[in-house]
Formats: sequence, structure tokens, C-alpha cells
Amino acid sequence: MVDTRLAHFNDIDQIRQVYQDTIRNSNKYDYSPEQLDAWIKRGDNPDEWENRIQDQYFIVATEADHIIGFASLRTDGFLSYMFVQPEFQSKGVGRLLYDKIEKHAKRMDMFQIISAVSVTAKIFFEKLGFGLVKKQTINIGIDVTNFLMQKNL
Ligand SMILES: CC(C)(COP(=O)(O)OP(=O)(O)OC[C@H]1O[C@@H](n2cnc3c(N)ncnc32)[C@H](O)[C@@H]1OP(=O)(O)O)[C@@H](O)C(=O)NCCC(=O)NCCS
Repeated sequence: MVDTRLAHFNDIDQIRQVYQDTIRNSNKYDYSPEQLDAWIKRGDNPDEWENRIQDQYFIVATEADHIIGFASLRTDGFLSYMFVQPEFQSKGVGRLLYDKIEKHAKRMDMFQIISAVSVTAKIFFEKLGFGLVKKQTINIGIDVTNFLMQKNL
């Protein structure tokens, strides 16, 4: 059974693994190997994960105590992460994580959620009710394209 809970510092190794495996396997059709490498490298530093877990509403999805996905929301309403391990995709885990995020945002009286979503995840976010703000190019050591998307609550 899939469950969700708040992330802890001792989840960092598993979170990093989900992040890096998912980018390597699920995003490879939409980004070049160089872009994937730069993106994967952004997950290397455990201190940065610690800061995100501390500063954001950071949740994980688990099955049999194993982390299979995670998502996080900053206090300004920006959704930083939404990742589901490839073997567990298309089973509703992403939607489950997002529902928790949205409930939290409403509890915090946020009026909108914004995210910069990958080419790969654009349709998923559309299904959740997000609208396109703009297509953009950001630099993560190399230029990558993503979509700024927004949902009013
Ligand atoms: C995007 C992602 C989080 C979705 O997680 P998931 O667990 O597969 O999503 P769900 O099973 O809850 O799907 C919810 C709906 O979105 C649809 N959907 C999900 N991913 C999709 C995709 N890539 N293309 C088209 N539709 C998609 C599902 O079919 C489902 O539709 P339905 O409700 O009509 O049946 C996951 O695919 C992922 O981690 N992708 C790679 C990492 C990534 O790019 N993350 C976003 C970074 S900004």
C-alpha cells in the first residue's frame, strides 16, 4: 500500500536515488545526455537536501517503508519537486503526492501554486489543473527548457 508522510533527514539517500534514477530514466526522451547529467548533479549535495527538508513542506510516498516518490512546496507557493520512481509511475502516486501538497497549500492560505515543470511532466500538471504561464529556458550549467505553470486554489 502506498502511503505519504513528511520527509526526514535520514531519507536523504533514498530521495536522492529516486531523483537521480527518475531523471536518468524518465526524462531521457525530452533532454540531451548533457542536460540530464547537469540536472542529476544538482541532487548530489546532501546538505542542500537537508535545507529543503527543513525549509519546505517536503513529503515522501512510501511502499513497504521504501521511498518511491517525493514532492515539496516552498513557503512562497512554489512547487520545487515532484518525482515518482519509474517502476511506480502511472499508478496514481504523483496525484496522491500532489493532493497532499495542495491540501497543505490551502491550509496555509496560499492562493496559488506555481512550478517550473519539465517537458516530460507537462501533461501530468495539465491534468492536475495547471495552466501554462510561459515556456522558458533556465541555465543549470547548461541551458534547459521547461514550462512555468500555475494553478489558482
Ligand atoms: C510526472 C510524474 C511525477 C507523474 O507521476 P505519476 O505517479 O506517474 O502520475 P499519476 O499516475 O498520478 O498520473 C496522474 C495523471 O497524469 C497522467 N500522466 C502522468 N504522467 C504523464 C505523462 N508523462 N504524460 C501524459 N500523462 C501523464 C496520468 O495518465 C494520469 O492521468 P489520469 O488521471 O487521467 O489517469 C512522474 O511521471 C515523474 O516523476 N516524471 C519524471 C520526473 C519529472 O519530470 N518530474 C517533474 C519535474 S518538474
